[in-house]
Amino acid sequence: MLKKIISNIEISSGIYKMVLEWEEKAFPGQFIMLNCGGRTLLKRPMSICDIDKKILTIVYQLKGEGTKNLSKMKPGDSIEITGPHGHGFDIFKNKKILIVGGGVGIPPLLYLTKELKSEKIYIALGFRSEIYLIDEFKKYGEVFIATEDGSHGKCGYVTDLIKDIIDDIDIIYGCGPKPMLKALKEMAIKAKKPCQISVEERMGCGIGACMVCACKIKDKDNFHYKKVCKDGPVFWAEEVEI
Ligand SMILES: Cc1cc2nc3c(=O)[nH]c(=O)nc-3n(C[C@H](O)[C@H](O)[C@H](O)COP(=O)(O)OP(=O)(O)OC[C@H]3O[C@@H](n4cnc5c(N)ncnc54)[C@H](O)[C@@H]3O)c2cc1C
Ligand code: FES
Repeated sequence: MLKKIISNIEISSGIYKMVLEWEEKAFPGQFIMLNCGGRTLLKRPMSICDIDKKILTIVYQLKGEGTKNLSKMKPGDSIEITGPHGHGFDIFKNKKILIVGGGVGIPPLLYLTKELKSEKIYIALGFRSEIYLIDEFKKYGEVFIATEDGSHGKCGYVTDLIKDIIDDIDIIYGCGPKPMLKALKEMAIKAKKPCQISVEERMGCGIGACMVCACKIKDKDNFHYKKVCKDGPVFWAEEVEI
């Protein structure tokens, strides 16, 4: 389907926010596939950062040719999109929530945080240096920040922020780079807290047809494979091998 771009601006160094016209329903943690044009043949997966009435927002980082093309698109341009795809986060009501996000794993957690509508939400966000989306998250909970260079919040990793909080919460949701998810999974298991994480894998089709995105799932003492695009990207931390 073709969607019209409403705005596409740089909100932090190399980080862009694109706002699009949108009619479809989608759940937090689901993603869309975008045709970025130029010589890129495969569509690129991007998480849904927010949906508000008939508007969808994505936040993306410049990586290669696809995202570079995306960043040059202007308001009024149309873009070919499929989705929403995948299995998103499960929403648990009336719980004390901990949200843990790192880098470009942060955008999908905004829509989740908004939809949780929980009274107590701790939000721990980790960045390399420049921060973004902070004011948006502050509307829904208490925000803690870590940067690797110490320019904002605590100097260090996002997982350093949650050591004193983790025992007090009911459920954890996380999204971010693999090393962060691995550390979060270990902390959640140690603290005996249920934890859902959104996993990132390279994608071909985005609909379960090509097996490019296979991930390992623990099966008692054995393993089997699932597809991140269709069965995920959200899994229980305990079941997925990171
Ligand atoms: C479910 C999901 C949600 C995502 N959400 C976001 C988001 O909200 N914001 C954001 O900035 N990035 C997100 N990504 C990563 C984003 O898809 C890649 O950064 C982007 O595809 C890079 O494309 P490129 O052409 O600029 O880079 P290139 O490196 O030129 O891409 C080459 C190929 O690799 C694939 N690829 C490269 N890196 C990744 C990656 N990390 N994950 C999956 N495929 C990759 C591309 O689809 C393409 O087929 C998400 C990835 C997945 C799987
Ligand atoms: S991307 Fe093709 S099966 Fe997942």
